[in-house]
Amino acid sequence: MSSPASSPVGLRSSAGTALSGTVRVPGDKSISHRALMLGALAVGETVIDGLLEGDDVRHTAAAMVALGASVSREDGGRWRVRGVGVGGLAEPAGVLDMGNSGTAARLLIGVVSTHPITCFFTGDASLNKRPMARVTGPLERMGAAFVGRKGGRLPLAVSGTDHPVPIEYRLPVASAQVKSAILLAGLNTPGITTVIESQPTRDHSELMLRHFGANVTTGRLADGALSVSLTGQPELIGRPVKVPADPSSAAFPAVAAVLRPGSDLTLTAVGVNPRRIGLYQTLREMGADLEFLNPRTEAGEPVADLRIRGSALKGVDVPPERAPSMIDEYPILAMAAACAEGTTRMFGLAELRVKESDRLAMVANGLTACGVTHEAGAEHLFVRGNGKPPRGGALIATAMDHRIAMSFLVLGSVAEQPITVDDGSFIDTSFPGFVGLMNGLGARIEGA
Ligand code: S3P
Repeated sequence: MSSPASSPVGLRSSAGTALSGTVRVPGDKSISHRALMLGALAVGETVIDGLLEGDDVRHTAAAMVALGASVSREDGGRWRVRGVGVGGLAEPAGVLDMGNSGTAARLLIGVVSTHPITCFFTGDASLNKRPMARVTGPLERMGAAFVGRKGGRLPLAVSGTDHPVPIEYRLPVASAQVKSAILLAGLNTPGITTVIESQPTRDHSELMLRHFGANVTTGRLADGALSVSLTGQPELIGRPVKVPADPSSAAFPAVAAVLRPGSDLTLTAVGVNPRRIGLYQTLREMGADLEFLNPRTEAGEPVADLRIRGSALKGVDVPPERAPSMIDEYPILAMAAACAEGTTRMFGLAELRVKESDRLAMVANGLTACGVTHEAGAEHLFVRGNGKPPRGGALIATAMDHRIAMSFLVLGSVAEQPITVDDGSFIDTSFPGFVGLMNGLGARIEGA
């Protein structure tokens, strides 16, 4: 399994033409990880179309093989997973390397915690800095034991339990990864495992667990929080999965098109799960001409074609309660805000500090370098634009973060002077083919 970034790949983005055309961006990363994991825990075969073939998901595929499932890829890109059944994973002989992927690491730590096996997890320099106590804490209550570095960081040893106990757990942070880790641990746990969330986070785990035959119920508590309950030890049955195009990846060409007058771009079969589309709602409020066409449902997930036209934007307030539905999109929203007329005020951003990089800091540093006026605090970012693209003309540090790299390359496609990112190799974690796709639409991104 190759890791990205054995050597950095500088990329430079210069002003291009209007973006036009019809394309499909790669498959949804969140759904792809879950399809491989649930396929591996199901009885029989799961056939997956549209799987994201990025490095993050490849690490999950390799881990599921190391845990005893069979995973193969056919010519044409269809993947097949033959599962071992709930509770059937085998102890891997080696260390599970999750690369750059927090989702792969946290969800799989949940899965193996309630298997009577010992597993060792590691990742790249970015992942090994990220907090894992948020999952190991509740999983200890279910019976698993962990030895990690300070703050529960990877590398981490997991000693799974053969007597798991179900828990009810209220999430202290809005995190779909933590919710999913607990629900996946609940799969091989007798009784009912419940997660309570004050702010709704993406529900791909719940939807896919149901798709594979598990009993997942949701309810609303007196204080407005949502509860999600899973009945343990179901028999999951292998199912076909059609992965929608990733709305978080679509965000990059979509914003590039909005920012370039005359653009008319259609992105097909994009996932439009209501818990993922906060960016698109915000862009509309800013004045973007953006339509969801042909809405439909594929394998339990809502999907639509996005049509985006070049538009003048104005600054808006983005409330903190919207953060979970657009948590990965703040870097690219900040680029749109830099070109809008007026100030865009983004609140509730604490979680941005523990992503693949400290995204609040990396965006703020990059904006400074590009001549954009802004104010960054512990949990907020205000960006002021004057209705025109900023100066640009900077070298941006990306800190092993794919979304920082793609965001500033999009800004470079409209800025007065080209923008260079120090390392674009991590783009392959989530958006393989990004440079070719963008250039095919009218951008000008080349090796630096
Ligand atoms: C994800 C949840 C989010 C998101 C990540 C994918 C998931 O992380 O940032 O890219 O697939 O569950 P958090 O749960 O840490 O917010």
